[in-house]
Amino acid sequence: MRKDLIQVDDLARQDIERILERAESFAEVSGREIKKVPTLRGRTIVNLFYESSTRTSSSFELAAKRLSADVVNVKSTGSAVDKGESLKDTVQTLSAYDPAAIVIRSPHAGAAGLVARWSAAAVINAGDGKHEHPTQALLDVYTLRRRLGALEGVRIWIVGDVLHSRVARSGIQAFARMGCEVTVCGPPTLIPRGVEALGCNVSWSLDGIGEADVIYALRMQNERMTGSFVPSLREYAARYQIDGRRLRPNQLLMHPGPVNRGVELAGEVVDSPQALIVQQVESGVVVRMAVLYELLAGGGPAREASRFTQEDPTRVEPQPA
Ligand code: NCD
Repeated sequence: MRKDLIQVDDLARQDIERILERAESFAEVSGREIKKVPTLRGRTIVNLFYESSTRTSSSFELAAKRLSADVVNVKSTGSAVDKGESLKDTVQTLSAYDPAAIVIRSPHAGAAGLVARWSAAAVINAGDGKHEHPTQALLDVYTLRRRLGALEGVRIWIVGDVLHSRVARSGIQAFARMGCEVTVCGPPTLIPRGVEALGCNVSWSLDGIGEADVIYALRMQNERMTGSFVPSLREYAARYQIDGRRLRPNQLLMHPGPVNRGVELAGEVVDSPQALIVQQVESGVVVRMAVLYELLAGGGPAREASRFTQEDPTRVEPQPA
């Protein structure tokens, strides 16, 4: 593993498998009444969020806290970013706290990579524009593997606004690396040209979706659209919405959230037992714990790992009597 996690390409299949196994061991910790291990005690993690987030920011915060790190959360609104401070200056300012890791979400593709160059801390990309969102891909792989076991040969259709989706870009690569057959589907205006190079097939209609084992729906990323890519949301929904009629009883349904009910998904499928959407959120915490562990305490670059991390990361430190 490298110092940072910026994109799925930073991970070999064996890195992914090690992170998934580590996440399994943290799932056991999450089942305890006291959901905390001392692994990162005394280390500081900065969460720097320049874009709105519910799931990703809360799960990174919880993950760091459950590893006993000290956590600083900086959001663009209410910080000096509002006052025009540049990303570089903000990172320099926060570096004064000597963080072990910086988790960054930004509306700009490439921002996480820049921060990784400017900072000695391990940098984790929590979504940079339409580029990548590697921890989302890891938690999706984790969720699906928990449900299905081996992922070799599993057919996944990723449906919707692939063009503006960092979730899709990371997901295609991670699922493909784990042996899945990935197809992306959406209107031609929302499928990036040359996307096949990431390891997927392309379909412009839902006609063949019956063959999918898993349907992974995406939100329309309106905040990243500069023109109009579909005639209307109603027309989009008529052609591409996954509803009770299109979701077969043997298919699983995933979505990174937030869902726009009535657009990419009909309400009835969101609430169906075939949906793994809640499990995806649940997986976010343990997978992000595993990523932090991997970068800060695992076999990565030599860092001062505590003696606990060398042994069993889920071990609870004996309390003085
Ligand atoms: C996604 C994101 O922000 O990239 N959400 C998430 O992280 N769970 C997808 C989206 O906003 O549609």
